[in-house]
Amino acid sequence: MFKRLPDTGPTVPVTIDGRQFAARAGDSVAATLFAAGVRACRTTPVSGAERGPFCMMGVCFDCLVTIDGRPNQQGCLIPVREGMRIERQSGACIAIDAPLGQP
Ligand code: FES
Repeated sequence: MFKRLPDTGPTVPVTIDGRQFAARAGDSVAATLFAAGVRACRTTPVSGAERGPFCMMGVCFDCLVTIDGRPNQQGCLIPVREGMRIERQSGACIAIDAPLGQP
C-alpha cells in the first residue's frame, strides 16, 4: 500500500528494538518502521493481535510505539531524531512517569 520514494538526503542513526538503523532524516517514526521492514509495531491489550501503522495521519492509533522509554507515542506524527530509541509495544503500556490521567 505504501511506496517509498527514491532514497535521497541524509540519514540519522536510530535503534529499533535495540538494532541500529539508518533512518531517513525527515521521515516519521512510522515511515522509518516500514523502511526497516517492521509491519507490526504493537499488539492489542485484549486479544494480542498485531497492529501496524495504517492511516499515517494520527487517526487510527495503530502506530503506537515506545520512544526513548516513553510508551504510547503515535509514530506517524513524530519525526525521527538522531539517537532515537524506538521499541515495539506488547499489550497495554502505561507510562509510570506521566501525570495522573495521561497515558
Ligand atoms: S498510523 Fe494511524 S494514528 Fe498513526
